[in-house]
Amino acid sequence: MASRGGFSSKIGFILAAAGSAVGLGNIWKFPFEVGEGGGAAFVFVYLVFCFILCFPVMLTEIAMGRKTSKNPVGAFNALGYKKWNFIGKLGILSGFLILSFYNVVAGWAFGYFIEMLSGNFEIGNQFGDYTKDVYKVGGYAVVFMISTAFIVSKGISGGIEKASKILMPTLIIMIIGIVIYSLTLPHAIDGLSFYLVPDFSKLTAKVIGSAMGQAFFSLSLGMGALITYGSYVGKKDNIVTSAAFITLTDVGIAFIAGLMMFPLVSYLTEGTMEGAGQGAGLIFAVLPGAFESLGPVFGVIIGSAFFLLLSFAALTSTVSLLEVPVAYAVDELNLRRTKAVWIVAAIIFIIGLPSLVGNGYSEFFTNFITYFGAEQPTDFMTFIGHLASDTFLPLGGCLIVIFAAYVWKKENLSEEISSGYEGYKGSIIEKYINFAITVFCPIVLAIMFISTVLSKFFN
Ligand code: PFF
Repeated sequence: MASRGGFSSKIGFILAAAGSAVGLGNIWKFPFEVGEGGGAAFVFVYLVFCFILCFPVMLTEIAMGRKTSKNPVGAFNALGYKKWNFIGKLGILSGFLILSFYNVVAGWAFGYFIEMLSGNFEIGNQFGDYTKDVYKVGGYAVVFMISTAFIVSKGISGGIEKASKILMPTLIIMIIGIVIYSLTLPHAIDGLSFYLVPDFSKLTAKVIGSAMGQAFFSLSLGMGALITYGSYVGKKDNIVTSAAFITLTDVGIAFIAGLMMFPLVSYLTEGTMEGAGQGAGLIFAVLPGAFESLGPVFGVIIGSAFFLLLSFAALTSTVSLLEVPVAYAVDELNLRRTKAVWIVAAIIFIIGLPSLVGNGYSEFFTNFITYFGAEQPTDFMTFIGHLASDTFLPLGGCLIVIFAAYVWKKENLSEEISSGYEGYKGSIIEKYINFAITVFCPIVLAIMFISTVLSKFFN
């Protein structure tokens, strides 16, 4: 059997899982979703979802992975419920779709590193032209996919674990530094109030659906990434504290990314917050102007370091996205690891081409689909985001907890969680998890799934 690799230590798993969770989802997607969702009310719903709904799903995924030491499809087979492995297959499909566009955005971020290095702060005003330049940004996307594939082909543990121990904290310190700076700028207070003072009248079904999708996307849930990573975790590790750490880190970083962005948006728009809802271009349009205001030397240093570190954060996420289908291909299709990696990476890159050209270059993919009743068309990349992260991930999460609660049985899940956590059985945490997976999550996630489909695709 092909070797699956493993983590060198408990901290290795936590770092890798946190590395999977923390990425463009926190720093690119979260701020623009908050902007589109109208601000603080979105943030509130997002936080509630992360802690009460997503946490039980995360624990279930890690436990299933550790119990079976398998990929998302193999995990269902190994537990003896082959019929249910369609949930894992849905996860693998989600992984393909998400990585296909994620890699394009990661390429943009990497390209911004080079732009900042050359002092081109004007790029913020020319973001549309930048994404249209498909040979350039396509080149960055190729570099990114090759780097991801290279790391995954070397197996899970290794250099990336070590590098993330230094680079992730550096990124966090840097964001905190920018937060402090942005709070000193004129109009910062209007940005803060947009971000932190909720106006609940802004909560529509669509906004709530986006908050749900964002929670799943950001925590890397609902597609078996954490089943796959959980398969590398030791029996003596306490997975409840691991899951809590991963959730807190991920949510914490998204939160401070928002604290960084909205005062800057407010500064650049003189307090009007116009353009906060501009979508996927938000950080790319706003941050260069902020770096420029630091002066030529600091601007170049801080600006380029920021986008380089962001690219690294994205890389630890693309690695986990690629690992899911690769683990499947290695375990279930008996492919050699290296071969599996390059084949899957190539296929995903090709699936990502419409996302690459659908940001201005190709008319067809830029105005790809007009949802029922909508006035404006939606581009291909946004459509795939709605489909995979807002729809498939919560659906996958819903099915995973239903499976764990009623098919595999909650007693078996408890048994698995209690390995490495002696006092788990009978604790309040166990009671909550059992309630969540049997009743709360299935009901809420099923409602969310239906309402998201109706509100997103049928205006
Ligand atoms: N959580 C990652 C981010 O926030 O950037 C994206 C992601 C990675 C989603 C892995 C899903 C996944 F399985």
